[in-house]
Amino acid sequence: MSTKKLLILPGDGIGPEVMREVARVTAWLSRKRDITFEIDEDLVGGASLAEYGVPIRDEVIEKARTADAVLFGSVGDPAWSHVGFDKRPEVAILKLRQELGLFANLRPAKVFDALVDASTLKADVIKGLDIMIVRETVGGIYFGEPRGIETLPNGEKRGINTEVYTTSEIERVARVAFDLARKRNNSVCSVEKCNVMESGLLWKEVVTDLHAREYSDVKLSHMLADNCAMQLVRNPAQFDVIVTGNLFGDLLSDLASMLTGSLGMLPSATLGAVQEDGRRPALYEPIHGSAPDIAGQGIANPIAQILSFAMLLRYSFDLQTEADMIEAAVAAVLATGLRTADIMSPGLARVGTDVMGEAIVRELDKM
Ligand code: IPM
Ligand code: MG
Repeated sequence: MSTKKLLILPGDGIGPEVMREVARVTAWLSRKRDITFEIDEDLVGGASLAEYGVPIRDEVIEKARTADAVLFGSVGDPAWSHVGFDKRPEVAILKLRQELGLFANLRPAKVFDALVDASTLKADVIKGLDIMIVRETVGGIYFGEPRGIETLPNGEKRGINTEVYTTSEIERVARVAFDLARKRNNSVCSVEKCNVMESGLLWKEVVTDLHAREYSDVKLSHMLADNCAMQLVRNPAQFDVIVTGNLFGDLLSDLASMLTGSLGMLPSATLGAVQEDGRRPALYEPIHGSAPDIAGQGIANPIAQILSFAMLLRYSFDLQTEADMIEAAVAAVLATGLRTADIMSPGLARVGTDVMGEAIVRELDKM
């Protein structure tokens, strides 16, 4: 394999500490599997604001553009919550998604057998659960115009955001969902609110047409977003792949992730379109945020960040064996009873971030 360029952006809060555990895994890859990366690292979010006065520099966006893959930590810092929207730490991830055209966010919600009891749902409801949410990430109400806060003639203020989707935006993300379903359980549930929103009506029409034209071998169903939230809690096992817009995907993926017991467990991949030269821009990040309340204490769960790295190996570098090994190592460590605070159950061994990272690499060493 030629040397692959990796850009690492740890970000804020627990980002840097969980990212440190990934370094153990990259070290293991080079030691045991002869796989090395050209790694560059930079600041984003509050960390970048503090140093450079902006949540992300153009230079960093350029680096992300030329990297073979980006591994992102998390952004968000209460110190910057009072500033305008363009100066929020969160702008870093939103800009990366938009500038690199990362339109399809893959968020798996998979339950590890060892963690069945960590879920707030009954074990028989979530055992063996394996859902993939495909969330559109560069359109919809996050980016739609007009937007803003205006002052009305009577002095009152009005906040505006606009939900917009075009045919091509819907089609390309639906294609990702159908393609994934073919490699999984061959079923897609498309989620919108066509009962109240025109953009939802179009979403449903476009997905239905695309399905009839190109994917009639895949089972397709449609669901209203509120019902989907309810069904995810009532009977999550009915779902295989869920495809939905930006805002509903944001909500439903947090909901789905909690079925698995902890936000600290789940990785995600955000993919762009395949370029003419065959490259596909891609960014990998845990679903959890920067968790400022526990940052710096060494107690954060590094598993979502490590599994995000495994996804990176799988989707960007086609290193299926190594990705499988990392996922198996995580499962093995959990089976031995080690737990970070967020997934702790009575009678098990509570460990910190670094001990968890070390334990995962020790399992890898045994393979
Ligand atoms: C996510 C996060 C982001 C989003 C924030 C940090 C802007 O919640 O990735 O789900 O809303 O997309
Ligand atoms: Mg979110």
